[in-house]
Amino acid sequence: SSTSREWIRQPIIVVMGHVDHGKTTLLDKIRGTAVARKEPGEITQHVGASIVPASVLKKIAEPLKKYFPKLQIEIPGLLFIDTPGHELFANLRKRGGSVADMAILVVDVMEGFQPQTVEAINILKEKRVPFVVAANKIDRIEGWRPTPDAPFLETIRNQSQRALNLLEEKIYRIAGELYNHGFEAERFDRVRDFRRTVAIIPISAKTGEGVSELLALITGLVQQFMKKKLVTSSEPAKGVVLEVKEEPGLGTTIDVIIYDGVLRKNDLFIIAGKSKPVVTRVRALLMPRPLQDMRMHEGRFTQVEEVYAATGVKVSAPDLDDALAGSPLYVIPDETKLQDYLRMVSEEVSELRFKVESD
Ligand code: GTP
Ligand code: MG
Repeated sequence: SSTSREWIRQPIIVVMGHVDHGKTTLLDKIRGTAVARKEPGEITQHVGASIVPASVLKKIAEPLKKYFPKLQIEIPGLLFIDTPGHELFANLRKRGGSVADMAILVVDVMEGFQPQTVEAINILKEKRVPFVVAANKIDRIEGWRPTPDAPFLETIRNQSQRALNLLEEKIYRIAGELYNHGFEAERFDRVRDFRRTVAIIPISAKTGEGVSELLALITGLVQQFMKKKLVTSSEPAKGVVLEVKEEPGLGTTIDVIIYDGVLRKNDLFIIAGKSKPVVTRVRALLMPRPLQDMRMHEGRFTQVEEVYAATGVKVSAPDLDDALAGSPLYVIPDETKLQDYLRMVSEEVSELRFKVESD
């Protein structure tokens, strides 16, 4: 409606890995650290995603100043998508992979690669998503002496030679497994060229050790290598449907990640349906209510007039019963262009449907 505006959006970071390797604990740790630092309002809960804003990234990365004096945070934050590791949820991992700018592959250092670790790697390869490996649960290494929330480079100074050797063995094993899948990998502080070598960051999602380096590294990598991709503007929204959900009082809704542009109430949009494309209008845009003002009688969601990339949002609209999860979403700016959009979605989705059926 108004003049066009440009901004750098949050990079979309998908967290993947085998069941129980610690993906959700890691995200809770990142969110919890911010809450513990008395900034509960700063973490926005998004549908299917959570945003960690730049202010929180800055605080978490503070202890790293002496190692990376030049680290400046230029992005507005990071948008994380958690995925389940259970083998049944291959489709959700694929959808996460399809919308990700970057991924964190979480690997339990004690267990190494497991079937869904390999599956995740294959998705990242196919979609060409750059990734880092979080070698999680280092606190479980025999004799480990944890220093809560310390940078990895500091906590290793407090460890016995034996614990350090055990850690080296585990990292070496993970690097070997990555090599078998076609990737050179090294502990992050030994990587010379991040375009050629996958960085392994040893962390504990439980004690918080190494989490500051993990966040600083991701921030640094996206800023160095994908800033152009993150520029978006106030144009019609593009997104991906993560899930199709029945909501009490709302009927069928879709949970969408918007990676480009602006989505507004009453916008005309197109997504793929199970049998044919669905063209409909946004009835309501719903964001989860922040925890601190959760009131039972008001329901779990709050309505907004518009949302900006990058974000997760629940969309309520007529005719979503047939919606296909995994589908692209495009706002149609001008009804005379409807045929072009129908063609585009049909082309993209014949491929998508093939993938869904081969699950
Ligand atoms: P799915 O979503 O089921 O795939 O699992 P997940 O990867 O999200 O794992 P989750 O975070 O639920 O953690 C699984 C278990 O591992 C929980 O009991 C966590 O408390 C534990 N855990 C996670 N990270 C760590 C860690 O760094 N150290 C230790 N000791 N335990 C951890
Ligand atoms: Mg989980």
